[in-house]
Amino acid sequence: MSLLFSDSHEKSPILHKKYFGDEFKWGVSTSAYQTEGSHLAHGKGLSIWDVFSNKKGNIYKGQKGDMACDFYERFGEDLELMKDLNIPNFRFSLSWPRLIPNGTGAPNEKGIDFYNRLIDKCLELDIEPWVTLYHWDLPNELEKKGGWTNRDIVDWFKEYTDLCVRKFGDRVKHWMVLNEPLVFVGAGYYLGVHAPGKRGLKNFLPAMHHAAICQAEGARLIKHHYPKSEVGTTFSCSHIEAFRPIEKDKLAAQRLDALVNRLFLEPALGMGYPVKDLKFLKKLENYWKPGDENLLKFDFDFIGIQNYTREIIKHSYLIPYVRANIIKAEKRKVPITLMKWEVYPESIFHILKKFDGYADVKKIYVTENGAAFNDILKNGEIDDVKRTNYIRLYLDAILRAKNNGVNVQGYFVWSFTDNFEWAEGFFPRFGLVYIDFKTQQRIVKSSGKWYREFLK
Ligand code: GAL
Repeated sequence: MSLLFSDSHEKSPILHKKYFGDEFKWGVSTSAYQTEGSHLAHGKGLSIWDVFSNKKGNIYKGQKGDMACDFYERFGEDLELMKDLNIPNFRFSLSWPRLIPNGTGAPNEKGIDFYNRLIDKCLELDIEPWVTLYHWDLPNELEKKGGWTNRDIVDWFKEYTDLCVRKFGDRVKHWMVLNEPLVFVGAGYYLGVHAPGKRGLKNFLPAMHHAAICQAEGARLIKHHYPKSEVGTTFSCSHIEAFRPIEKDKLAAQRLDALVNRLFLEPALGMGYPVKDLKFLKKLENYWKPGDENLLKFDFDFIGIQNYTREIIKHSYLIPYVRANIIKAEKRKVPITLMKWEVYPESIFHILKKFDGYADVKKIYVTENGAAFNDILKNGEIDDVKRTNYIRLYLDAILRAKNNGVNVQGYFVWSFTDNFEWAEGFFPRFGLVYIDFKTQQRIVKSSGKWYREFLK
């Protein structure tokens, strides 16, 4: 691991694009709320993140994404820069409240026009658009009616999906229905640390079940309109290990693994929720309707895995429902990123093996991976060698998994530019491209230059 903190690129593992094969998809990922800004422009409705980040105490230093990277105005230049970095695939999300300001009902023509221009510009530059339907910015008008906890969201989400696919499906060939459902449901409807700031199992369970239904229903609708399009959904996943080799810790690790890595995948595969490991899921009966087991199923063309780290788990009676405690990386004295996540490239190897182990997972793309480090601007340059080495080490682990028979076919760096990192505001920078948020100036970091060379 020491090379991560060396300042030499030479010592990184020798890696070549050609080892991954000609068909392998290389790209970068972003999301609407984290980059677009223009939160009230041209008829856009408010999202739960607009509301949440404008409330005191929710975000680091009271920051908010009203302006973010000003991508709404600057997408043309940003895509030119992407082209200049030889990046052939771009994963971004659509903003539901920009397209349907009230979440349901009349669409916003100006919002549709924005995404038409964005998609057309991608294609003009020969950059393939990969579209996520939902990356956490629910229309606030829907949250007023209960948001994800209201079963009506299934119809609202279908209406939104239908609009997106009818408007953009002629040009968009790769779709992802949800971004990391466990994170938006867990952080937003259980812990209350993300929008909309709700807490407790009574919010978590219905939100979770409705998101899992939407995951499959949205995918069905895309295929209905465009049977040949490639449809997936994305999961946050972490390799989970027990702290000590004792039964109690192993069982705690098993429970956390069920929560983090299996909760949204297994119902889609027709295996149902992992109730055996997570007893509290029995309470889902309260939200269950006859036929739901079929609604939850969908035969996805691919699964997007988003992996950054691993977690070490110890049994704890103090943590409700999972009785598992995460031992923080800082305590373990291992290399960490600015997010305090352990740098552990083996994690992605294990995760790929795990997901590939499901017979019905056909293909995997790594739809996010990357790191926030303390970027220092010196003489107009950012030499973020740690980020480059992080990416190289994770790519090395992905290649090993691929050579081990895992059907992994793509890799997207999180993120193209620095952006609004949710509750952490603008503090953690994940970009290959630096943004001065006062002037909106873009500066390609040395990691971005490395990626350009790598992709050449
Ligand atoms: C993911 C999320 C992204 C980004 C990234 C880095 O969980 O999808 O929006 O924030 O993590 O934390």
